[in-house]
Amino acid sequence: MFITLEGPEGGGKTTQAQRLAAWLREMGKNVLAVREPGGTQISDAIRRILLDSNSSNMDARAELLLFCASRAQLVSEKIRPHLAQGGIVVCDRFADSTLAYQGYARGLNLTFLRSLVDFATSGLTPDLTLLLDIDVTAGLRRKAADEEWNRLDAEEVDFHARVRNGYHTLAAAEPRRWAIINADRALDIVADEIHHVVSAALTTVTDMRE
Ligand code: TYD
Repeated sequence: MFITLEGPEGGGKTTQAQRLAAWLREMGKNVLAVREPGGTQISDAIRRILLDSNSSNMDARAELLLFCASRAQLVSEKIRPHLAQGGIVVCDRFADSTLAYQGYARGLNLTFLRSLVDFATSGLTPDLTLLLDIDVTAGLRRKAADEEWNRLDAEEVDFHARVRNGYHTLAAAEPRRWAIINADRALDIVADEIHHVVSAALTTVTDMRE
């Protein structure tokens, strides 16, 4: 099973992805936890270029291709082999981030993005995507207080509002894959809801395979 966590900045995806992976391991599952961009030596090198605050003049097309290059390497080197062994993959951001950020927010052509993403992932799509949803201003405030500020965080509030709306459009188009989780609550409450959603999805997948 392939689970991704998505959402605007400051929704606590990274913490929740780590907690989810730990909880699944406690249940005896074989879990690979990765984050995007990054997750392999090559992808981590690309991450440094992408998030460097000194790369403020990065062309939108160059940005898109670097995110996709990082993802292609991660899928082929880590994600596909782990899924092939029957393991669970928990990924902190994946292809929907490209549609939300480079598509809905930057304005690159969505039809083209979908085929590029499909090429980069060799057609791999998540079984379950958790949208950790938070108001844009509250999220940016949280991120500024708790985490490292990167090149994309520094975009204007309107950009982040387009990201968030983009995610809602994506979720509405594929409601069976997406679960929208209100991330503006205590960590434990959000984690409990995630466990609930993931348990239900695991049961469905198991039933389908029996
Ligand atoms: P990161 O520090 O990992 O942020 P977060 O904790 O919010 O995930 O930085 C990743 C940044 O890259 C984040 O601002 C979202 C952006 N991004 C894209 O623009 N497109 C993509 O395809 C991906 C994977 C991330």
